Amino acid sequence: MKIGYQPIGVVHSPFTEIEGMPIQPSRAKGVSGTAEVFPQYVEGLADLEGFSHIILLCHLHRSRGFRLKVVPFLDTELWGLFATRAPNRPNPIGLSVVCLVDIEQNRLSVKDIDILDGTPVLDIKPYVPEFNERTEATLGWLGSARKRKALSGERFK
Ligand SMILES: C[S@@+](CC[C@H](N)C(=O)[O-])C[C@H]1O[C@@H](n2cnc3c(N)ncnc32)[C@H](O)[C@@H]1O
Repeated sequence: MKIGYQPIGVVHSPFTEIEGMPIQPSRAKGVSGTAEVFPQYVEGLADLEGFSHIILLCHLHRSRGFRLKVVPFLDTELWGLFATRAPNRPNPIGLSVVCLVDIEQNRLSVKDIDILDGTPVLDIKPYVPEFNERTEATLGWLGSARKRKALSGERFK
């Protein structure tokens, strides 16, 4: 089965090169960007104001190929791709929870963005803690990696 999605918009961010970019919104605190929504979808933005955070689902368009075992940004060991948030995947979809600052017509001003400039937006959803938060969540390999050390800073030197 082939699935074809059309972008509903495009991300504008300060990041024009992958090198040196933040690896997650939590590591991009205060970084401003815009999600521009194409005119035919603007009506669907109604009632989004009032949500402090939104989920941006993006097509990571500069992703090239994938490996099923990867060394993630936060570690030095190989782990199964689907146990990571690595951008190179069979379907390179990025999921970013960003802060919604303002909506002006078809432009959503956001903060904490970890997405490259020009990235196609596939969908926008409100972030609802009740739906997403799992206080009982465990972190698998990432839990022990965090205990060892966080390597993201070194990776992007
Ligand atoms: C680890 S991914 C995480 C993205 C999203 N928060 C997620 O968890 O799905 C973020 C990294 O993807 C890469 N990236 C961002 N935008 C991209 C794009 N349009 N194409 C390919 N890679 C991208 C950058 O290396 C960035 O640091």
